[in-house]
Amino acid sequence: MIGSPYCKNAYKVLLLGGGELGKELVIELQRLGVETHVCDNKDMSPAGQVAHFTYHINMLDATELQTTIDNVKPHCIIPEVEAFNIDVLKEAEKTIKVFPNARATDITMNRQKIRDLAHLECGCQTTNHEYADSEQALFTAVDKIGMPCVIKPLMSSSGKGQSILRNRDEVSKCWKYAQDNSRGNISKVIVEEFIEFDSEITLMTLYDHGKVSFFEPIQHEQKQGDYLLSSQPAQISETALAKAQEYATNVVNKLCEPEDRGIFGMEFFITLSDTVYFNEVSPRPHDTAMVTMCTQLYSQFTVYAHMITNLPIPDTKVYFPGVSHTLLKFENTDNPEFHIEPILETDRDVSVRLFGKTNVTNNRRRMGVVLFRNTSPDQAKSLMNTFAI
Ligand SMILES: Nc1ncnc2c1ncn2[C@@H]1O[C@H](COP(=O)(O)OP(=O)(O)OP(=O)(O)O)[C@@H](O)[C@H]1O
Ligand SMILES: [Mg+2]
Repeated sequence: MIGSPYCKNAYKVLLLGGGELGKELVIELQRLGVETHVCDNKDMSPAGQVAHFTYHINMLDATELQTTIDNVKPHCIIPEVEAFNIDVLKEAEKTIKVFPNARATDITMNRQKIRDLAHLECGCQTTNHEYADSEQALFTAVDKIGMPCVIKPLMSSSGKGQSILRNRDEVSKCWKYAQDNSRGNISKVIVEEFIEFDSEITLMTLYDHGKVSFFEPIQHEQKQGDYLLSSQPAQISETALAKAQEYATNVVNKLCEPEDRGIFGMEFFITLSDTVYFNEVSPRPHDTAMVTMCTQLYSQFTVYAHMITNLPIPDTKVYFPGVSHTLLKFENTDNPEFHIEPILETDRDVSVRLFGKTNVTNNRRRMGVVLFRNTSPDQAKSLMNTFAI
């Protein structure tokens, strides 16, 4: 039974973070009559624009976040980003349901915690790695791992603060870059062996009261550590898929309690010889799985909305091969414009999602995705280039 928004019986959901993934989730929750509340560190967030209620607060500040939770009195809380005060969430969980749970949120936002859990407790193959908490220690770690290697802040996302090191003279530069782009006050970094993988996938993994199931795998390409395009079906072997599913099952079983429900984006690298490396996991919808908005009858957002409202999980089969290509803007502006007419006039089955972000800073921002059905990743790339979107 679900109530109605603005009414006494409203089922209230509070999202911590209002990005593009939150926006689609809010829309799906509203289709089910849920009252949606979104808080975000920025004003006019994409999800905030479509939610019933929105709050512009500093989510890293304990008092501000606590006050918002106290005022809203939500039935459940959904972390949509990683930049918020985790202690407040842990405390809130004593009386409010957190999806999937506060512990999984805490572990997965920290590269060391999730990697140790996956590698040491779940038997997942990971890249060789070392940790370093000072510039000096970084030199030692780099020498142990060898070059090229990848240096990442322990807490960051979308490739922020991440560099590929090929030259020992650049260690100090990488250290500084990681520090400048690390979230919170954690200075520690991870140094990973660079893997020449053949393909990279996200395996959307559902945990439903102890039962584990999967979406069909999603293949993706990243540029400068950030998502460029994703597609289904993925071109990977049955052997690699079975291994990824085994790893994902082990990890999700460690992150969840039997009473939990949740959706997880498990990221894997796969080599030509079918070695599968566990990379990381998001305990929420995944950016690469935006492709499910055009490949499945029920996208990752519909599925998660069903989980949050305690409804049965709908069909997750792929019905249309498809590609999601990001729409990036590289020039700073507070008045973004998009010329999408030409791509919609092609004979392709194309649709566009513009996130509604109101500015571009730092010369790069993901502003939308273009969804192509019955189109290969190469064709999608070529169309994006042709129309200079
Ligand atoms: N050890 C590695 N070897 C080769 N490529 C790597 C390695 N680590 C990361 N990458 C590349 O960089 C991308 C981003 O890395 P990762 O997923 O660890 O960081 P992230 O900042 O959390 O990204 P996101 O939040 O967008 O998922 C990966 O998807 C992969 O393409
Ligand atoms: Mg990633």
